[in-house]
Amino acid sequence: MWTRRNVLQALGAGLAAVPWPLRAAMAAEAPDLVLRLTAAPGSARIRGGGDTAVLRYTGQVLRGRSDALRPSSSYLGPTLELRRGERVRIVFRNRLAEPSIIHWHGMIVPEAADGHPRFAVSPGGEYVYDFTVRNPAGTYLYHPHPHGLTGGQVYRGLAGLLIVREAQERAWGLPEPEHDLALLIQDRRFTDDNGLVFKRMMMDDMNGVLGDTVLVNGVADAAFRVTPRPWRLRLVNASNARIYKLAWSDGRPMRVIATGNGLLSAAEGVQTRPYVVLAPFERIELLEDFGTRRPGSDVALVSRRFSGLGMSKMMDGMMGRGGSSGGMMRGMMGRGIEGMMGDMMGPGQGEELSVARFTVATQARTAGQVLRPPPSASPLAQARHELHTGIAFRHMRGFLNGRRFDMGEVADDERLPLGEGTAWTFANDGGPMSMPHPMHIHGVRFRVVERSAGDAPEDLRDGLVDTGFKDTFLIFPGERVRLLVAPTEPGLFLYHCHNLEHEDGGMMRNCRFDACSPAGRT
Ligand code: C2O
Ligand code: CU
Ligand code: CU
Repeated sequence: MWTRRNVLQALGAGLAAVPWPLRAAMAAEAPDLVLRLTAAPGSARIRGGGDTAVLRYTGQVLRGRSDALRPSSSYLGPTLELRRGERVRIVFRNRLAEPSIIHWHGMIVPEAADGHPRFAVSPGGEYVYDFTVRNPAGTYLYHPHPHGLTGGQVYRGLAGLLIVREAQERAWGLPEPEHDLALLIQDRRFTDDNGLVFKRMMMDDMNGVLGDTVLVNGVADAAFRVTPRPWRLRLVNASNARIYKLAWSDGRPMRVIATGNGLLSAAEGVQTRPYVVLAPFERIELLEDFGTRRPGSDVALVSRRFSGLGMSKMMDGMMGRGGSSGGMMRGMMGRGIEGMMGDMMGPGQGEELSVARFTVATQARTAGQVLRPPPSASPLAQARHELHTGIAFRHMRGFLNGRRFDMGEVADDERLPLGEGTAWTFANDGGPMSMPHPMHIHGVRFRVVERSAGDAPEDLRDGLVDTGFKDTFLIFPGERVRLLVAPTEPGLFLYHCHNLEHEDGGMMRNCRFDACSPAGRT
C-alpha cells in the first residue's frame, strides 16, 4: 500500500521539507500511477560525430502500469502514456543548475499541477503534481516553464510527449499503437564538435531561435520504415520558434484526424489539406495510408517554402523598405549586410527543409478499418462574455494589451468566468514589426470561431486547420482571431506566445478563471 510514509521515503525528504502541494496531495485519494521525472544534464547521440551535451528528462514508474513510460530516442524525455480517467501523481526532481518546473501542455489540470512559473523549484528541489487525466485521446507535450529560462531549457533537450489513450480508439477505427508513430520536430544548430548553439545575437530574441538542422525525435536525417497500411502519424512541433509547412514530397494531400486538443468528431470529419501549417507546440494527427504507395518506394515529409514572414519581412520593417528614410538607410548599407546576415541566420523562417524520410516495406498491403470518429464532442457554451487582447511587438519585445509578464499580476481583462463561455478576441496589430505569434492558453481547450481582417499569407492559408479543439493557434500580422473558451478549472493560469524567446522575453500574462468575473460581462 502506498502510505504517507512510503511517499516520504520515496522522495527521500524529511517531513519538514515536504512542500505544501505534496502535503495536499497526500490527503487526496491514492493515485493509480506514480511517476518520477528527473531533469538533469546528460549527453545524446543526435547526429554523426561525437555526442552532444544536453539536458534531459529521465523517468521511473514508482507505482502502477510499467508501460506508462515509454523510452524515447536521443535526448527526449520518456513518452508518458496515460489513459483518460487515470489518477496520476508525478514527482518532478530538478537536478539542473537552475530553477525549473514542468508544464503539461494542452492538459487540463488543477492550478497547482499546471506548472506555472511561480511553482519553479530550485536546483535540488522537487515538486509533486496530482491530477486526473481529463483530456480526450490525443497528443500532448510536457516541457519546462520557469520564467525567462524556458527557451534555453527546451532547446538543450527538455521536452517529451504525453499521449492520452482511450479504450474506444480501436472502435473508432484508428490504427493500433503498433501503427501509431509520433514525429516530434525541432530545429537545432551545432558547433563543429556537435555542441548545441543557442542564442547568438539580438535577432534571436526578436525572431526566436531558429536552427539549420531539423531533428525528428531527437535525431538528424530521420528515416522510418513503414508497412503498407494506414498509420496514425502524430506531428508535433516542439521547436522554439520555427513554423513548418509540412507536405509529402509526392504531393499527396494530408488527411487530418486530430488537431491540438483531441480527435475531430464525426461531424467535423477528416479534414484534407494540401499541406499543414504547424506553429511551435501545435500538434496535428494524420491518417496516412502508406499502402497506397508502391512497396519499396520512398516518400519524404518536407517543410515547403513560404514567404512573407520572419526575417525578410522584419528587415523590411527595420529598414523601412518602401519609405524614403529607409531607402537611404538601405542605400548606405546596401544588400551586403542583409545577405551576410542571411548567411549567419539561415535558413530563415519559411525556407524549404527536409524533415523525415519514409520507406514503404515490400510486403502485402493491409487495408485499414473504416474510420468511425467519436461523436460530436461536448459543445461549448454560448459566449456570454467578451475579452479582447491586443498583441504588439516593439523594442524587440511582445506585449499583450500593452503589458508584459508580472508573476503576481492579473488585470481585469484577464479574468474568465468559470463554466461559462467567453469569446476571446486576439488582434495582432503590432505595426511595422508585427509577425506571426503562436498563442497558447493554459488550462483550457478552445475553438477558433473566426479569423478576420485576414492577413494569413496566401501560401499558408490552405494549411491552417481551425477545426476541432485547440490549445495553441497561430495569428498572423494584421489578423484578428476569435476563440470560444469555457474554463472548468478555477485558479491562476497563463496565456502567452509560444515562440519561446517571445515568452521568455515577457510576452506572457496570468489569467484567472473564477466563479465571478466583473470584467467583460456583456
Ligand atoms: Cu507549452 Cu505555457 O506552455
Ligand atoms: Cu500549456
Ligand atoms: Cu510571439
